[in-house]
Amino acid sequence: MALNQTLSVQRLDDPAPDSPIIEISHLQKVFAQRKKAPLEAVTDFSLDVRRGEVLGLIGPSGCGKTTILRMVAGLDSPSSGSIVVDGKEVTGPGPERAMVFQDFALLPWQSALENVVFGMAATKLSREERVARARAELARVGLSGFEDHLPKALSGGMKQRVGLARALAVNPTVLLLDEPFGALDAQTKTLLQDDMSATLQEEGCTTLLVTHDMSEAVYLCDRIVVLTNRPARISQAFSIDIPRPRGERFRSTPEFTELVDQVWQELKAHVTLSNSQAVVEG
Ligand SMILES: Nc1ncnc2c1ncn2[C@@H]1O[C@H](COP(=O)(O)OP(=O)(O)O)[C@@H](O)[C@H]1O
Ligand SMILES: [Mg+2]
Repeated sequence: MALNQTLSVQRLDDPAPDSPIIEISHLQKVFAQRKKAPLEAVTDFSLDVRRGEVLGLIGPSGCGKTTILRMVAGLDSPSSGSIVVDGKEVTGPGPERAMVFQDFALLPWQSALENVVFGMAATKLSREERVARARAELARVGLSGFEDHLPKALSGGMKQRVGLARALAVNPTVLLLDEPFGALDAQTKTLLQDDMSATLQEEGCTTLLVTHDMSEAVYLCDRIVVLTNRPARISQAFSIDIPRPRGERFRSTPEFTELVDQVWQELKAHVTLSNSQAVVEG
């Protein structure tokens, strides 16, 4: 397939994609800081995400990616602008949106099973139903036999599988992944990306994947939105018109390398600016 058929740069004034499930309009987040000027983390960020789409958000470290995801999760509120998911304005967390955190965020004193059960606290399921579903989700992510293990007895990759099982157990419409493989070694990460690719296909969840890893974004996403240095705004969007799941051989094709390079060419200037921002601010 020729490159120009697989990747298209979207003009930012393109009409909204068909039937958006997530509608983010003019989002802004300003953090008040003690004895310092307020910090603007996100500015004028507008984005529509199609049902079932896997959308990658990529940008320099500290640009505001987690802040955007937390607002979609309802864990933080916007300073201005709005987020609508499935026709309803987001005003707090809800079971239709599940988040997977970079640092796993597991309860250390609870077993893998209880961590997944805990994630279903806001659902109306009985204890028996939650346990049964937690077992099934752990099995699906390859953790049968590890139900009773505490997080400290699990590897990083296993902990993140528990995090993913916990998110999937609520049957979310929207899956929010915040650098889910960021804390893992390169080999574990590659394996988990393959699993994730299959899982996203099976589930059909609309997914926002925050990452700083360009290869990960090209491998997993239908569309990649490159963010500027802080405050995060959209710099450019790339559509990757290759059917998912793409299979591990895709990683070694010239097409893949070229796509990663195109994203990097867009991102590079923002990373450089972001680094000088960090130096100036000390
Ligand atoms: N609760 C907070 N209070 C003050 N500043 C914050 C808070 N959360 C994040 N920030 C700041 O907002 C900016 C964006 O943070 P974040 O969204 O975590 O970046 P990213 O996920 O892109 O690395 C950073 O400068 C960070 O220090
Ligand atoms: Mg982050």
